[in-house]
Amino acid sequence: MQVVSIISTKGGVGKTTTAANLGGFVADAGLRVLLLDLDVQPTLSSYFTLAARAPAGIYEMLAFNERRIEQLVSRTAIAGLDLVLSNDDRGELNTLLLHALDGRLRLRHLLPALVPFYDLVLIDTQGARSVLLEMAVLASGIALSPVTPEILAARELRRGTLQVFEDIGPYRHLGIDPPPLHLLINRVHPVSSNARLIQQTLRQMFQGQTGVRVLATDVPAIEAYPRAATRGLPVHRVEYRQPVGRNAPAALETMRALAGGLFPQWRELFAQVTGRPDARGMVGSDGHGKRA
Ligand SMILES: Nc1ncnc2c1ncn2[C@@H]1O[C@H](COP(=O)(O)OP(=O)(O)OP(=O)(O)O)[C@@H](O)[C@H]1O
Ligand SMILES: [Mg+2]
Repeated sequence: MQVVSIISTKGGVGKTTTAANLGGFVADAGLRVLLLDLDVQPTLSSYFTLAARAPAGIYEMLAFNERRIEQLVSRTAIAGLDLVLSNDDRGELNTLLLHALDGRLRLRHLLPALVPFYDLVLIDTQGARSVLLEMAVLASGIALSPVTPEILAARELRRGTLQVFEDIGPYRHLGIDPPPLHLLINRVHPVSSNARLIQQTLRQMFQGQTGVRVLATDVPAIEAYPRAATRGLPVHRVEYRQPVGRNAPAALETMRALAGGLFPQWRELFAQVTGRPDARGMVGSDGHGKRA
């Protein structure tokens, strides 16, 4: 089971958008995906229509160590895409975990219960430093951080993000290495931005930092992303063809490249995703080859 936390110490950079679209794409490739909404504001929890709502959510999971799938996991309308809802309405989890002896390791200890059920777990987080963010990073095999071109200039990017990794460094003494950090350039203006220059700048900023990688795929700023969110669909289903006269590739191709860069072991499955409504169901009898 792959575990990816989607993090940033800045708000509004595209964490939830990435979680929803990457999750939806990987699910459409026939894999079993679980989204964990760790943000107090339940944006990811309300992105997709729910086919079945579980009685519990992230609060019960983290506060009471709830492990029972049938209690925790809501099903979205997208086959193969499940969700643990954000329901920490009063924002208590952060303080609770701060004072718990195992606080920052709690999620890491709970994840083995999910291994039989999921191929991929995607953790969406709040755009600020918090115990929950550190906990998410310590539980994941990859940390994925969207970066928008506007905030590239801000020193805070390097300091803020790297500080998290530095602060959790002492967990090495417990045999827990921080995961590699993958930077995803998001919302690149298809006409006015120089994507290559942005990539170069970002690489220079993080030069010499082991474990930091700038992903080769960047995500253009296109209207398909907000449109997909409004329709409650993963973006590759909304834009599977490149619009005439636009330079930026179709959202389907961007998601395929992004997913393939993160999970090369599933590239063959990703190649089969078409995004077209009539083509779903072609992969296997239920449209999801790997799922029983
Ligand atoms: N590549 C893109 N092209 C166009 N719009 C985008 C793109 N990525 C994200 N957006 C839009 O930017 C806004 C912020 O994105 P999102 O909510 O994913 O950010 P976030 O990092 O989760 O924010 P927060 O820190 O508040 O949780 C949304 O309206 C989303 O639709
Ligand atoms: Mg968000």
